[in-house]
Amino acid sequence: MKTFRLQLRFLLPLALVLCATAYLSVPLMDRLTLRWFARDLDMRGALVANTLSDSVAEAMQEHKGRKLQALFDRAVQDERLVAIAWCTPEGVLQHGTKLFPKDMDCEKAKALAAARDPELQLESGAVHVSVHPITAETGPVGSLVLMHDLSFIERRSKDTRQYLIALIGGLGAVIALVTVIVAQLSWRGWVSGTRALLRGEGLVRPLAPPAPELEPLAAELRERMRDLQDDYRRAQGAELEWSPERLRSLLQTQLRGDQVIVVSNREPYIHEMRDAQVVVDRPASGLVTAVEPIMRACSGTWIAHGSGSADRQVVDRHDRVGLPPGQGDYQLRRIWLTPEQEQGYYYGFANEGLWPLCHVAHVRPVFRATDWERYVEVNQLFADAVVAEARSEDPVVLVQDYHFALLPAMVRKRLPRATILMFWHIPWPNPESFGICPWRDQILEGMLGSTIVGFHTRFHGKNFIETVDRHLEARIEHEHSTVTYGGRPTLVESYPISIEWPTPEETRTWPSPSQCRAETCARLGIPQGHQLVVGVDRFDYTKGILERLNAIERLMEKYPAVRDRFTFVQVAAPTRAALDEYRAFRRRIEETAERINQRFPRAEGAVVRLLATHHGHEAVMRLYRAADVCMVTSLHDGMNLVCKEFVAARDDLRGVLVLSRFAGAAREMPEALIVNPYDVEEVADAVMVGLDMPGAEQRERMANLRSTVRENNVFRWAGRMLTDAARLRLRQRVSERVRRHRSAVDLPQPDGATGAVRNWPAGP
Ligand code: G6P
Repeated sequence: MKTFRLQLRFLLPLALVLCATAYLSVPLMDRLTLRWFARDLDMRGALVANTLSDSVAEAMQEHKGRKLQALFDRAVQDERLVAIAWCTPEGVLQHGTKLFPKDMDCEKAKALAAARDPELQLESGAVHVSVHPITAETGPVGSLVLMHDLSFIERRSKDTRQYLIALIGGLGAVIALVTVIVAQLSWRGWVSGTRALLRGEGLVRPLAPPAPELEPLAAELRERMRDLQDDYRRAQGAELEWSPERLRSLLQTQLRGDQVIVVSNREPYIHEMRDAQVVVDRPASGLVTAVEPIMRACSGTWIAHGSGSADRQVVDRHDRVGLPPGQGDYQLRRIWLTPEQEQGYYYGFANEGLWPLCHVAHVRPVFRATDWERYVEVNQLFADAVVAEARSEDPVVLVQDYHFALLPAMVRKRLPRATILMFWHIPWPNPESFGICPWRDQILEGMLGSTIVGFHTRFHGKNFIETVDRHLEARIEHEHSTVTYGGRPTLVESYPISIEWPTPEETRTWPSPSQCRAETCARLGIPQGHQLVVGVDRFDYTKGILERLNAIERLMEKYPAVRDRFTFVQVAAPTRAALDEYRAFRRRIEETAERINQRFPRAEGAVVRLLATHHGHEAVMRLYRAADVCMVTSLHDGMNLVCKEFVAARDDLRGVLVLSRFAGAAREMPEALIVNPYDVEEVADAVMVGLDMPGAEQRERMANLRSTVRENNVFRWAGRMLTDAARLRLRQRVSERVRRHRSAVDLPQPDGATGAVRNWPAGP
């Protein structure tokens, strides 16, 4: 269509030019041909006159008028010669033939013959007049007046005109055809050239190198096109983005709307009694941040420990409360624990045993038999709750984290047809490290009650499989990533967890980054011009907060000019404060911050601001938007969602992320400044690079990080797990049906583990 329009733009003027040429050239051609023929007739007349001259002279000398008349009458039998007359030397016209005009005399004839166009209109048509003097031996005897027919000239002119028009038309058609072909070819060349450029082929290997003087322009053009292409790709996002709606429809279609039950230790909302009032808190937990949007989308039941001081006041008689408060999208079933149970199961075995065991953070795990007993007891308590909440024999049970390693096998015992997905939110160590746990086999057996065991990264999944291989008698199929234990297969897969990407409605309500910065600086008494480096964590020794402070101190030693230019704000939400290790860690951090601030005193206020209180989602979002650099320096982390939340908050494409290579997120976010948190020089340098990073580079990095996190959002995490669950459920149903059919006709049964049919029966 585009070529056609372009061609039309050329062809229309061409047609106009050709019409104008025809219009102007045809009369010109007429005149020219007339003149050529007139000259021709003059010559012909002279020839005729020459031929007749002797006879005419003789007749005149002999005064034989009749002979002359007969001669003339014979001569006009020539079809071209219309009329002849004789002019005497005295100028008297005589012997005019039949068609010679009566009113013509010698004077007129001579005048006409001398004119530029010696043409005369007779009744029979136009004639050409010529006068030819005749000379005898005695001298001039008079003149012959000849009138030649001109109509044949008109006929010939008409033919010439038609020929000319046909020639111009034909020529026009040929030019047009050539134009169309050339245009098509060159347009195709352009199109394919441009397409190649857009595909990046021309960028990498230009089809023909441009002239050297055009190279800078070409390079600039290629650069711009690449930018546009990248922006387009980022704006487009994934082909089909994961959203709550897509997850809901997956539940309806793939899982036939079956009930979803989530089990976690931490509850999504905590009701606390403060100043004689019930208030609702959101806990600082990556797990809760990720799972809550899934529950909102699935409308299932969430079973969790009721740990808030006012939790009991808001539940119904079945210990259930609708959440989120005031909306009731899903049900939370609260489980009550005695202080002994909480101490042994949560603080003891989970957080003093498994937590340090799985995080290689150089804190010794503590294993106490009494803690283990409480752990078993509480796992059973929650498993019973799952069975009680199940409305069918095959619910989908999503078991969260290291607090419930035994629960999958316990539920499997009571609900053998349930689909149990266990997600381990923290790292899984190598077999040797895990092997020090006195109850390692029970833990592995408990987890293998699951249909699927999920980790954030392949690496942790591989560690798990190797641990099973080392400590249990299990069949491992690496190709399918399955572990078969006690005749039951468990799929071990990686599903990187993420956050819920903010909706446009939500981001519209956000204050601008400059407003966030101004408010943060005003609130904390930081000079407005200062750059902000932020960290947001729980007060946990795995988060690398001490290493971060050391890096900030080193930054100021190494780059003195930066000292009065920035402030470091560390939000550290109190956590597991009943444990010695955590209390000691907090003290150590506070002392280090104090020491650094004393070592580098500043008129404009302390360089390190430690905010050891829980900050809600809104406050944290403002801090992220105010920041120049965000530091995530975990010593070991399953995934870490702080870095993803920071990226989601920066719709201005500003801000630099410094990210530990030991956080699972580092694998997905290579555009961050990836550091080894133990390497204080490297972290200090990374922060310096972040503080000085040009806006264009920040934009480049941030735009890519954002498109990755948006695409790999938390609905994708859940969606991928549930899709796998649906596939395995279907396989299970098929294998059950096969088993029923075969037992009805007494044939060998499918393999309990794989569903494959052994002893394939002989054909008919
Ligand atoms: C980690 C764990 C979660 C836990 C969270 C907060 O992210 O994987 O299971 O909820 O820390 O810890 P807490 O002990 O306060 O629940």
